Amino acid sequence: MPVSETKYNAKISAFGKFLPETVYDNAYFEKIVDTNDEWIVSRTGIKERRILENGATSDLGVGAIQDMVKRFNIDLDTIDVMIVATVTPDMLFPATACVIMDKLGMKKTWGYDILAACSSFLFATSQARSFIEAGTYKRVLVIGADKMSSITDYTDRNNCILFGDAGTAILYERTEDKNDGVLDETLYCDGSGGKYLYMLGGGSLNPPTHETVDKKMHYIYQDGKAVFKVAVIGMADVSFEIMKRNNLKPEDVAFLVPHQANLRIIDATRKRMGVDNSKVMINIDKYGNTTAATIPLCLIDYYDMGKLKKGDNLVLSSFGAGYTWGGIYLKWSID
Ligand code: UT7
Repeated sequence: MPVSETKYNAKISAFGKFLPETVYDNAYFEKIVDTNDEWIVSRTGIKERRILENGATSDLGVGAIQDMVKRFNIDLDTIDVMIVATVTPDMLFPATACVIMDKLGMKKTWGYDILAACSSFLFATSQARSFIEAGTYKRVLVIGADKMSSITDYTDRNNCILFGDAGTAILYERTEDKNDGVLDETLYCDGSGGKYLYMLGGGSLNPPTHETVDKKMHYIYQDGKAVFKVAVIGMADVSFEIMKRNNLKPEDVAFLVPHQANLRIIDATRKRMGVDNSKVMINIDKYGNTTAATIPLCLIDYYDMGKLKKGDNLVLSSFGAGYTWGGIYLKWSID
């Protein structure tokens, strides 16, 4: 979508995060599969991840919203729409958005879930932006939350070391300042990539049976090498494209905010953009890949560290299952 020409922009006005207490460090995985800390750190950059032992994705979302309310004193009845970005909904239906609203007693909001894997947060942001720019709604809450441990096979060393659980809440709000908030986006899908990263079981194609369970079809499958090659190109190109389209030079960008799947993919993206290491948000070492939560979690962590300032130009970029990928140019709005 091109840069918007409507009356309103969508800016971030509040946020919250929820991280489960249980930590699986690399030493934990050394005990359960044939792996080692050196391999995991050098190939992925991950040192530990958070795991939600009890509860579901809705609880990650509820925790994040409660944190947002505490930080910004938000009246939840003023939220028009809630979009839950996740690949691990509590159930196929009802939508996790409805579950979260019920848990929080929200009766005045409507909403739904969207599934674009690691690009879910960017796709949901695009929808929030559209609702707000069109003038239809003023406040749209995007929840990026995933309980990846619920679809991870902890006997598969290729995958189990990669993922973690987290919940985030980002509130988008109407502003008449056309130079604030979400300024541009470029989003893509290529369904031919579906065969390299998927979960086969549980949907209408392979409804759950003893056989689907025996064949481990309810877990993530990933051809890591194949995904790695296209992710490097996809994320780097899309970040470069957003910069070029908006005449952003490396020095104009405060931070690249990349999806956190692999430190080597992040580094390749940074190099293509020509930005310095210090301008890249990284927290993959602490949380692993939390799918829909990685990008908002970076934003909140860097704000909490005092590194993110009002007016900072941010380039958000992602690549994930689908394939889905994209970039967003966003100006940070909170002091
Ligand atoms: O977020 C959604 C999008 N996903 C991504 O962007 C992920 C993209 N892919 C990746 O990040 C990387 O491909 C991985 C981290 C998944 C794997 O890294 P790699 O450098 O591509 O490793 P590989 O798959 O080529 O495996 C190299 C070797 C293999 O052994 P052989 O066949 O060379 O003997 C694997 O069996 O490393 C082995 N290996 C491991 N060794 C120790 C795989 N997993 C492990 C492990 N510990 N946990």
